[in-house]
Amino acid sequence: MSNRTFTMIKPDAMRNGHAGAILDKIIKAGFRVVALKQTKLTEEKAGQFYEVHKERPFYGELVQFMSSGVIIAAILEKENAVADFRTLIGATNPAQADEGTIRKMFATSVGENAVHGSDSDENAQIEGSFFFSGLEQF
Ligand code: RTP
Ligand code: MG
Repeated sequence: MSNRTFTMIKPDAMRNGHAGAILDKIIKAGFRVVALKQTKLTEEKAGQFYEVHKERPFYGELVQFMSSGVIIAAILEKENAVADFRTLIGATNPAQADEGTIRKMFATSVGENAVHGSDSDENAQIEGSFFFSGLEQF
């Protein structure tokens, strides 16, 4: 079990002014920031990042949305990071997310759902290195 996960604060939450509140919840939940940056994905980069969903009907919409504005990308550390972070963010569809989760509080729809969280240790590693070099991780 790895102790790192990767997250993005998605363009909807950035536009809606929720970045500070989301980072506060993440840190209060016990995650340590290993790396963090504000950036913007091109369509090409967003397409690459979500390549696993290429055949899904929402892929085009997802790529458009994820490249529609700035995001915050971060690597986070905590015991049991991947699973605990998925619990903190809640279900993909905010309508089904538990009370108090980040998506319940800040997401607007299944597509525009405020945050990304890695779904496995392996993907956390791949996604973190998509955005950060070794020299940017502390
Ligand atoms: P994420 O990867 O962003 O943390 O989200 P997730 O694991 O909870 O959900 P996943 O199945 O990996 O889907 C990735 C993202 O695609 C968008 N989506 N839209 N319109 C739809 O039915 C639909 N389904 C998924 C969401 O932005 C979702 O987070
Ligand atoms: Mg996912």
